[in-house]
Amino acid sequence: MIELTDYSDAGWSGVDVAARSRFYCEQLERGEILFIDGARFGLPESDRAALMKLAPDSLRQKNISYAPSTGQVAGLRGAATDRNLTDALARYSAAAVRFCAGLLAPYSATWRVELASFRPVEEHDRPLSITERNDLLHIDAFPGRPTNGARILRFFTNIHPDEKRVWLTSDPIPKLAARGEFAAMMLNCVRAADSPASRALGQLMHGAARIGVALPDRSSYDRAMLRLHDNMKRDAEFQADCPKHRHEFAPGASWLVFTDTIPHAVLAGQFALEQSFFVARDSLLAPDASPLAVIERLAGRVMTKQDRTSVGLRGALERQ
Ligand SMILES: [Fe+2]
Repeated sequence: MIELTDYSDAGWSGVDVAARSRFYCEQLERGEILFIDGARFGLPESDRAALMKLAPDSLRQKNISYAPSTGQVAGLRGAATDRNLTDALARYSAAAVRFCAGLLAPYSATWRVELASFRPVEEHDRPLSITERNDLLHIDAFPGRPTNGARILRFFTNIHPDEKRVWLTSDPIPKLAARGEFAAMMLNCVRAADSPASRALGQLMHGAARIGVALPDRSSYDRAMLRLHDNMKRDAEFQADCPKHRHEFAPGASWLVFTDTIPHAVLAGQFALEQSFFVARDSLLAPDASPLAVIERLAGRVMTKQDRTSVGLRGALERQ
């Protein structure tokens, strides 16, 4: 983990901005977590209070999501959404996008600002199905939001007044793939993504997407990454034997990480906010370090669709 030392809400302080911005982008792409002290990125106390008032049993989904493009909140039962909650999510999303755009300038002209989310439930011992569990190491891939090789960058903030958020991470995908067992798991995912049934389903969804039906149009890469998300969680040997690093994020802290390359698990903590971005392939500074590069090396072929943008189509389903 590296710590942000020369940038805050107020901007950069006394550095070669272009060089520092590129430095942080490259470190993130290569699998570092960028830690941001609470003094560098803040949230109004009234917004924090509005979010913490929400009763955890008002959730209809695993998390609450906020779509910056429409202003819509999803994941709550019936009438649970109130104006204060929506406004607090909107302000967090806008502030996170502004903060990250200033910090990571090489990405912001072409990235896609994705959903923000709020996680109000205590993560320790949370009862979820195996592929939904947050306490098992996994990389992120979203069933309803394929990226076609664009990378998943996420900005998190722990808004709990006094509880740490505890994460476990493993090594980034390129390092894990140097181990025989993990490379074999990835290759199995590539083969499953390329199976006749999987390809036929992919073609059907691609056709539907082209005529405007809202189905996620997944590339081979997206299908392989979804498999990898599930298989990592289901593989007890991987969970037990892989290298592990523990991180404790203090109340008020934020952190940035490419969650498509860093296996991560949340062991404990309540009340976190998050803003996602899809970073376009063309703007990467270290494309050789991307999960796409590793998967294509293993597969020996191109795994993305070539007839559309690198970001993909928006869908409705979530897996985080
Ligand atoms: Fe995740």
